[in-house]
Amino acid sequence: MKEEFSVLPVHVGFIMDGNGRWAKSKGKSRNFGHRKGSEVIEEVLKTCFDAGVKTVTLCAFSTENWNRPKEEVDEILRILDKFIDKYRQKASKEDIRLCVFGDFSRLDENMKNRIEAAVESTKGGKSGMVNIALGYGSRQEITRAIQNIIKDGVTQITDDTLSDYLYTAGQPDVDLIVRTSGEQRLSNFLLYQSAYAELYFTDVLWPDFKREEVIKALRWFEGRHRRFGKV
Ligand code: IPE
Ligand code: IPE
Ligand code: MG
Repeated sequence: MKEEFSVLPVHVGFIMDGNGRWAKSKGKSRNFGHRKGSEVIEEVLKTCFDAGVKTVTLCAFSTENWNRPKEEVDEILRILDKFIDKYRQKASKEDIRLCVFGDFSRLDENMKNRIEAAVESTKGGKSGMVNIALGYGSRQEITRAIQNIIKDGVTQITDDTLSDYLYTAGQPDVDLIVRTSGEQRLSNFLLYQSAYAELYFTDVLWPDFKREEVIKALRWFEGRHRRFGKV
């Protein structure tokens, strides 16, 4: 059934949180939770694009997540590597552009190459955009932007200049940020781009965040009155 919305976010960000607690509640390992969490991503993306959302940014692995135990970090990265490699085919078929951004300096070369190949092979995609934030931190993104602005010798700096130096250059600001698992914080995700984003928090844990939960979030957004400082 096609859902109709009177107003939709153009760009939605998902903070995919709660894999560990979901697994714990089932007596399973945290890594099992990460695997299950990765299995709902496609359904979430499909629901968004079917509804008419144009851009989705997934918070997949943050700068701070490097501080987790090595075996968990390794497994999360392995799962994301697999997801990207698999989603690439779907993206190509559905004319979706895949973009992966963050600091990749600690990733292994093979993974970096696969990411690059996925991004390259989908770069002509016009019907939707999926950003995967990986090794990503918003503060580091802003710091890097300023370093590059200085390096380029740019002296006339406006709000747009800074936007143009972020990983999301050329993309619309995020309209809606969804965070699962009951936490009500941004955890260093899209801080500059979310200046006027609506924030939706749900207690649902990420592996349970399926189609109907996406619709619920979009319906909630539909009922917001965005004033952007006006009356
Ligand atoms: C989100 O789930 C996945 C990543 C941060 C990579 P968590 O692993 O943070 O799950 P909780 O918050 O411990 O339940
Ligand atoms: C945020 O979740 C990052 C991702 C979902 C990838 P965290 O679980 O890392 O966030 P905190 O530590 O609870 O703020
Ligand atoms: Mg968490």
